[in-house]
Amino acid sequence: MKRGKRISIIGAGSVGSTVAFSLVMQGTVHEILLRDSKPDIAWGKALDMSQAAAVIRGHTKVRVAEKPQDMAESDIVVIAAGCPRKPGMSREDLLLINAETVRSISREIKEHCANSIVIVITNPLDAMTYVALRETGFDRRQVMGMAGLLDSSRMAGFIYEKLGYGSGQIRATVLGGHGDTMVPMHRYSTIAGVPITDLLKREEIDEIVRRTQRGGAEIVGYLQTGSAYYAPAIATAMMCEAILRDSKQIYSCALRLEGEYGCHDIVTGIPAVLGANGVEKLIEVTMNEDERTLFDQSVRGITRMIDKLIEKKFY
Ligand code: LAC
Repeated sequence: MKRGKRISIIGAGSVGSTVAFSLVMQGTVHEILLRDSKPDIAWGKALDMSQAAAVIRGHTKVRVAEKPQDMAESDIVVIAAGCPRKPGMSREDLLLINAETVRSISREIKEHCANSIVIVITNPLDAMTYVALRETGFDRRQVMGMAGLLDSSRMAGFIYEKLGYGSGQIRATVLGGHGDTMVPMHRYSTIAGVPITDLLKREEIDEIVRRTQRGGAEIVGYLQTGSAYYAPAIATAMMCEAILRDSKQIYSCALRLEGEYGCHDIVTGIPAVLGANGVEKLIEVTMNEDERTLFDQSVRGITRMIDKLIEKKFY
């Protein structure tokens, strides 16, 4: 019998387990494997979620991958392990701590899930996606970071808050790195096809841009002990769904550029078509001078992080 779709999630903390729960509610996946340094906690969550599947008359089974080989034949592996941000910390502060974690996970993936598509959530996102690409040696179409969909959705949420109408019809676009220098592209943001520049004042748009750039930090400030997980998790689940259903949706993802946007061997957020093969197409968006300046600034920040990894003899 042909088996159903399998997704492994490494790191069953708030983000990883909420990705699993979102997938259970979506019902696209047959089997979810949680892998965590605390297997008992992961088993507790796995059982709870399998029972949630029964409540909605779903079919998804959630189990724990006690050994890395249990993840074999996963269609997708999600990397959600690592330390979250604490108040006052930037995503970059997590660089060296989480690079070690992502490195060892990527080696397990390379050995046991060589044909899977990898989605990275661990921060600092662009640099961690770079580490996963380097350590797995996978084709760049197989490895992507989740952030652009989250940041774009945050921007859409802030536009809705400001306007008070159009929810569900708002399309916002955020490019560049998942950091304070991300590039919310208001020129490409619309409500039912109407540019937001026709509906909002310049100062209002500036405020939306700033709030989007600080969207993650705003939540860390309230939570104190961790960072956001509902929106990051559902964004990841949406990317998984586009891949498993081969729906060829366009989402902003962190990808390795090899000449696109004039950049080489760097990971940053750009729109891409997601389907059964992972990244089916990378899209180059036309930018004006201001947007290009901001994009370049964002890329420079990511290059600095990668240089730091090289300096610390990571590569
Ligand atoms: C955020 C963190 C998870 O943006 O990067 O919420």
